[in-house]
Amino acid sequence: MDRLNDDALDVLFRKARTYNTWLPKPVPDELLRELYDVAKWGPTSANTCPARFVFLRSAAAKERLRPALAAGNVEKTMTAPVTVIIAYDLKFYEKLPKLFPHNPAMRDHFAKNPQLVEQTAKRNSSLQGAYLMLAARALGLDCGPMSGFDSAKVDEEFFAADKCEDCGEEFFPVGHVKSNFLCNIGYGDTSKLFPRSPRLDFKEACSLM
Ligand SMILES: Cc1cc2nc3c(=O)[nH]c(=O)nc-3n(C[C@H](O)[C@H](O)[C@H](O)COP(=O)(O)O)c2cc1C
Repeated sequence: MDRLNDDALDVLFRKARTYNTWLPKPVPDELLRELYDVAKWGPTSANTCPARFVFLRSAAAKERLRPALAAGNVEKTMTAPVTVIIAYDLKFYEKLPKLFPHNPAMRDHFAKNPQLVEQTAKRNSSLQGAYLMLAARALGLDCGPMSGFDSAKVDEEFFAADKCEDCGEEFFPVGHVKSNFLCNIGYGDTSKLFPRSPRLDFKEACSLM
């Protein structure tokens, strides 16, 4: 295929909206696995893949998030079928022997440079969060990203030592994962959308040099 058709561009960008209200339609765990398996192919620098994704589906998990949410984000988050914490692992470089096997020196290059680690983790986990949103749209889901939350509270509640009771994941227990942003996922209620705000025109945002 040379390029996506207009319908696909509408689904991914032009008609895709940010949702605050959700239809009562669940998102199965299998679809979340498929979502990750699509989004994971988005590029990151040196294939570092620093993002970590925590899918909150149960009421109990959502309650753990509630105290960290800005007031305006509570209702939409509590009613969303899934809320994802898009986080980054500051020890992402420990995975580089697997992820970047053709250059074994890359692990130490990061391990010796905490500033580079932080910059790389933040930049690339943000990109991976965007890949996740586009993958969600491609799979027929809707998104509601949020930065209105207390990240220190989220990190303490979900990523501090001893917070991995049932998480079943290897990256939680040791406290080197930090939250970047949140994203509600589900099937959005189009009847509750606000009119769409404009975007910058080409000449306001771009230059051709
Ligand atoms: C990283 C990020 C953080 C956001 N934080 C919030 C938030 O805390 N609360 C909120 O209601 N909307 C939040 N938004 C939603 C934006 O306001 C919304 O995506 C934007 O206005 C575009 O809306 P549209 O997709 O419907 O065109 C956030 C969006 C992004 C991408």
